Amino acid sequence: MLPIKIIPINQNYLEFWHRIYNDPATRQHQPIQPTTMAEQEVMLNRFVDHDLANNTLPSYKWILIESESSQPIGFASFHRLQIEQGIGRIGYSISPEFWGKGYATQAVVQLTSLIFRKTNMERLEAVCSIHNPASQRVLDKAGFKYEGVRRDYLRIRDERIDHHSYAILKSDWLAK
Ligand SMILES: CC(C)(COP(=O)(O)OP(=O)(O)OC[C@H]1O[C@@H](n2cnc3c(N)ncnc32)[C@H](O)[C@@H]1OP(=O)(O)O)[C@@H](O)C(=O)NCCC(=O)NCCS
Repeated sequence: MLPIKIIPINQNYLEFWHRIYNDPATRQHQPIQPTTMAEQEVMLNRFVDHDLANNTLPSYKWILIESESSQPIGFASFHRLQIEQGIGRIGYSISPEFWGKGYATQAVVQLTSLIFRKTNMERLEAVCSIHNPASQRVLDKAGFKYEGVRRDYLRIRDERIDHHSYAILKSDWLAK
């Protein structure tokens, strides 16, 4: 398995991000709508400020890079759900041609470590559609604990879908 690195998203990756974001295979189990390049650029500009220590920033986006080839292979996100309570959520997507190489698991492990080191988060959550066993497996492998099903949790293409709920606590991460 080749190592990956995660870097804050920037303008150089706009086209890549737009392509993967709009790929039907990537969107299949996610509540995201197709975008134009102009809309994607507006979204990207919300993530230009990337100071993890700044509690007032709601969301962050990273591009995942295959270290050896320097190719972008996916993206990941972190959102502050409850600042005072130290609760956040992560998400991730890998380009289909790179599936099955362990990259999403690596990304989640790296992201978890980065967030617990650089923010005041004490609990990181992740949810995945009950129709997305690969994502479930990623969270299991990355040390997240299964917490049950959130019924009809997110609307994906006009249908509310049950989602598996996972979380890792800072204390879990420190004990590793
Ligand atoms: C889900 C996703 C992130 C996985 O990325 P990935 O880089 O292939 O993940 P990894 O290689 O780290 O691990 C995938 C694991 O799922 C397993 N898997 C794949 N398809 C599976 C299936 N249909 N049923 C059960 N397990 C499956 C793989 O075998 C692997 O487990 P293993 O290492 O024990 O063999 C990727 O498919 C993706 O980006 N999908 C579209 C976007 C998305 O769904 N994001 C998550 C939203 S919650």
